[in-house]
Amino acid sequence: MLTSARFRSVLGHFPSGVVAITGRDAKGGPAGMAVSSFTSVSLDPPLVAFLPGKTSSTFPVIARRGTFCVNVLAVGQEDLCQALAVPGADKFAGVDWHPGPHGDPVLDGVVAWIGCTIEAMHDAGDHRIVIGRVDDLAAGTAAEPLLFFRRRYHHLAAA
Ligand SMILES: Cc1cc2nc3c(=O)[nH]c(=O)nc-3n(C[C@H](O)[C@H](O)[C@H](O)COP(=O)(O)O)c2cc1C
Repeated sequence: MLTSARFRSVLGHFPSGVVAITGRDAKGGPAGMAVSSFTSVSLDPPLVAFLPGKTSSTFPVIARRGTFCVNVLAVGQEDLCQALAVPGADKFAGVDWHPGPHGDPVLDGVVAWIGCTIEAMHDAGDHRIVIGRVDDLAAGTAAEPLLFFRRRYHHLAAA
């Protein structure tokens, strides 16, 4: 039987990184959500994508301005990731960040950030596929990425 529990459990066996999609609300304040459904899409033109659920209250706020920043989360940012997944919470309390491309938040300590303009949105069941055109990006060298697998956080093992 293809139940939603089985779907979630089996798909949870696909490992991924975790990003914070950030943007600005109508008053210019920071907005954000934790997302594992992030991927690079195209090199020319430079495109990336992520899939926000249709019940997300944060994504419409970000979409209204039409830009977003992808923050690749690092080991040690598990609590920040959890905070960014709670609807309606004051997600940025105690979080250090600075304005990146378009003024969207770049979080301190992330592995990389990618500033984008929303290029297209496609309907996809109970989610949307959001395509972003990359305007600017940068990677650090110090931070290790946070990994998500079988509903738990993991670190890279030393080779
Ligand atoms: C590790 C992790 C990965 C997540 N991946 C996604 C995702 O790919 N798409 C999505 O819509 N929500 C994802 N979420 C959940 C959202 O972060 C969260 O439900 C949503 O932002 C709710 O808050 P909002 O109403 O402020 O949007 C993820 C949460 C966690 C902890």
